Amino acid sequence: MQVLVLNGVNLDVLGRRDSKLYGGLSINELESRIYEWAHALDLSARCRQTNSEGEFIEWIHDAYDNVDGLIVNPGAWSHYSYAIHDALELVEVPLVEVHLSNVEEREEWRRHSVVSEFAALRVIGKGPEGYREALEFLAGNADV
Ligand code: DQA
Repeated sequence: MQVLVLNGVNLDVLGRRDSKLYGGLSINELESRIYEWAHALDLSARCRQTNSEGEFIEWIHDAYDNVDGLIVNPGAWSHYSYAIHDALELVEVPLVEVHLSNVEEREEWRRHSVVSEFAALRVIGKGPEGYREALEFLAGNADV
């Protein structure tokens, strides 16, 4: 089972961001954990991160016919990018939306997500472990 994990804008500097909110791992450390968790679940994972919205959308397009499950943390784009909304609308495999921080308990503008309506599962506020939960969900729910 192929799972694509897409991290968006400003997640490349994760290690510099507030560790109380985001868990304190660098993006490389986070991706290493994701690969370990995926391996333990017998999933084949690929992690990618970009600060370019267009690139993020192209990776979603590539995923349409090539993966069995998709995990996205679009960062701040989650709150306003209707371009990412429209790209995710066409995803037919299970989609999980992950946020390291609890976006429901922060600023008002973070409560709105353009992604949520397409997500089979939303995991928020669980730090890096949220990605493990997302992988476990896909391992148990993908139609392969
Ligand atoms: C985030 C939450 C977003 O509001 C924020 O803009 C991020 C990270 C999270 O993982 O908690 O960049 O998606």
